[in-house]
Amino acid sequence: MDKFVVKGGNRLHGDIYVSGAKNAAVAIIPAVILSDEPCTLENVPDISDVSIGLKILREMGAKVEMVDKTTFTIDATHLMNSEVPYDMARKMRASYYFLGACLGKFNKAMVSMPGGCPLGDRPIDMHLKAFETLGAKVGIVNGVVNVETDHLYGGHIYFDKVSVGATMNAILAAARADGLTIIENAAREPHIVDLANFLNSMGADIMGAGTDVIKIRGVKYLRGTTYSIVPDQIEAGTYMIAAAATHGDVMIRNVIPKHLESITAKLIKIGVNVEEFDDAVRVWTSRPLVKTNIKTSPHPGFPTDMQPQIATLLTLVDGPSLVTETIWDSRFAYVEELRRMGANITIDGKVAIIEGTGSLKGAPVKACDLRAGAALIIAGLAAEGVTEIEDIHHIERGYENMDGKLRGIGADIEKRYFPEENAAVKSS
Ligand code: EPZ
Repeated sequence: MDKFVVKGGNRLHGDIYVSGAKNAAVAIIPAVILSDEPCTLENVPDISDVSIGLKILREMGAKVEMVDKTTFTIDATHLMNSEVPYDMARKMRASYYFLGACLGKFNKAMVSMPGGCPLGDRPIDMHLKAFETLGAKVGIVNGVVNVETDHLYGGHIYFDKVSVGATMNAILAAARADGLTIIENAAREPHIVDLANFLNSMGADIMGAGTDVIKIRGVKYLRGTTYSIVPDQIEAGTYMIAAAATHGDVMIRNVIPKHLESITAKLIKIGVNVEEFDDAVRVWTSRPLVKTNIKTSPHPGFPTDMQPQIATLLTLVDGPSLVTETIWDSRFAYVEELRRMGANITIDGKVAIIEGTGSLKGAPVKACDLRAGAALIIAGLAAEGVTEIEDIHHIERGYENMDGKLRGIGADIEKRYFPEENAAVKSS
């Protein structure tokens, strides 16, 4: 399988440009199904999760035209059915958003259970509970989730836990339901707000996105729109940490600084300099970095999707630093790989105790999931010597042209292709 080969030691410097948000795009692409007219999406990230989402739309009968690398015009007004092809749905975890979108438009949907994930158990019970609250019957037959109703009515949804996916799916299903839907204990992430803004730009009536209570008054018609996807908060944070880990000086452009507040606050606490501009942040170091404790929590707290990256930075800092993961049961798989590079980390349940070693040594490592892979690239950039990262398809699910963007700010990173291995894997 293809690899990234990173030679560490270069201080990153210059300007790097952030793409549209993966976790917004994977919800907004299915949301186009709700529209009664064609839509145009701009600032769409060029990543494999998006390619799969667009392919699913095409398979369902939508007309998807690429205007340019990041702009697509989509006409989903004549879909053949509300069933997502089983084999494709399994390829992208977020394919469950097609459930909410198809239920909202057709009063029915069939989507395979989402694929497994290295983060631990990822149930969708709260998604299904939300659909039932709006009047849908829910069943799972042969690994396929079936949701159906004669009529969708607004309802009062209370989530026991904060869930990004369940909040997104509840909004999708309620956008055209009859009457008022109230979602309590809603997730507040920037991508939730982006989905609501997209739907409101088509004439939906969604209030309170970004707070823990969202009110949706169902509408009968959704017009076409041209919508630009919000910049990716996690991609931006990843490059902020790469700049800090290499003691570089980088301007990260196309960002919304407010979305980065919890990341900025923690980096400043570690001793990193961060300067905010209208749509950019400058990150550089000028003093030794200091140990800091991190605890992930739903937005506006420190994002779990930044946990592997900041833990990697803390391996370079005199410890001990404690990193507590509160969202996922097992999001420390990358630690084993960092240990190969000399990191001194002990895992005690949901807490990683990081004794900074001041430096890492290049080694052959494997990406086990998207953000773990990004963290290993950061480790490679900061390490002495060469790091080879395998299974980079995980990284390419959510980072557009990561090696190219990093080379643009001075990183010594290249992608090695192994077509015969890829072919072997594909045929297996
Ligand atoms: C989204 O996953 C993101 N994925 C994840 O990002 C992110 O880590 C997560 O939100 C938290 O921010 C996308 O947006 C595509 P949740 P999601 O529902 O929606 C439990 C990345 O790296 N839960 O907020 O699946 C769940 O097990 C990815 O970009 C239930 O128990 O996360 C978890 O413990 C990784 N029942 C917690 O809630 C449910 O029905 C939060 O999960 C749903 C969730």
